[in-house]
Amino acid sequence: MHLLIPAAGSGKRMGADRNKLLLQVRSKPLIAWTLLAAEAASSITWIGIVSQPPDWDDFKAIIADLKLKKTIELIPGGSTRQESVYNGLQALPTNAAQVLIHDGARCLATPNLFNACSEAILKCSGLIAAISVKDTIKVVDENGIIKSTPERKQLWAAQTPQGFDVKLLKQCHAEGVRQGWEVTDDAALFEKCGMEVRIVPGEETNLKITTPQDLAIAEFILSYRE
Ligand code: CTP
Ligand code: MG
Repeated sequence: MHLLIPAAGSGKRMGADRNKLLLQVRSKPLIAWTLLAAEAASSITWIGIVSQPPDWDDFKAIIADLKLKKTIELIPGGSTRQESVYNGLQALPTNAAQVLIHDGARCLATPNLFNACSEAILKCSGLIAAISVKDTIKVVDENGIIKSTPERKQLWAAQTPQGFDVKLLKQCHAEGVRQGWEVTDDAALFEKCGMEVRIVPGEETNLKITTPQDLAIAEFILSYRE
C-alpha cells in the first residue's frame, strides 16, 4: 500500500517557531513517531512525505536517524492541506491503485490502524478512520445562539488514515479545483462528488496534535505505551 503523509503545514495553532512536526515529543521529533508507526505497519510499502522544501534537510536527517527500510520520497507541499495532497497524488508511482493518506500530525496512530485501513480499502473505493463522538454537538450561529442539536448517534469524528481508489480521488481533486471547493479532508471531496465513503473504526488515542496541550497529552500516551 502507498501512503501519503501531508506534513507541509506551519503549525500556526501550536505557536512554535517552526513546523510543529519538528517539535520534540518524548525525545523524538513528532513526525518521527508517525514514520515509525508507518514503518512498523506491514501493509505499507511506499511512503511519500509531502512537505515544504525548507524543511527537507530536517526531514532527511530524521529519516536517516530512524534507519527506515521502506522507500520514502519527499514531495513539495502546497499552501493548503488540499493542495499538498493534490501534489502527493501527482507524485504517486503509476502502479499505485489505492492510497492511504495520513496526517503527519497524527503521530499516535498505531500500525494496526494502518493495516486495518489498507485491508479495508481493497474492498471499497473510499474510507476514513473515525470514532463516534462522546459529546453532544451543537450547531451555533454567529451570535452564539444554538440553532440545532444533531442526533449524536449519527455523528462521527473524522481521523486519518483515509483511503481511496487513486484514480477516483484524483478525479475528485480535479473537480475540487474546477469548482473552487475548499475542504479540510479528502473524504469531503469524495462526498461532494457523490461517492460513498466508509467508516473504519479509528482509535481514541489517534489525536491530531494541534496545540501545546495536545503535545503534553501525546507525551503522556507515548510514555504510557513504553
Ligand atoms: N498540511 C500540509 N500542507 C499544508 C497545511 C497542512 O501538508 N499546506 C498538513 C500538516 O502538516 C498536518 C496535516 O496537514 O500534518 C493536518 O493539518 P493541521 O493539523 O492543520 O496542521 P497545520 O496546518 O500545520 O497547523 P495549523 O492549522 O495550526 O497552522
Ligand atoms: Mg492547518
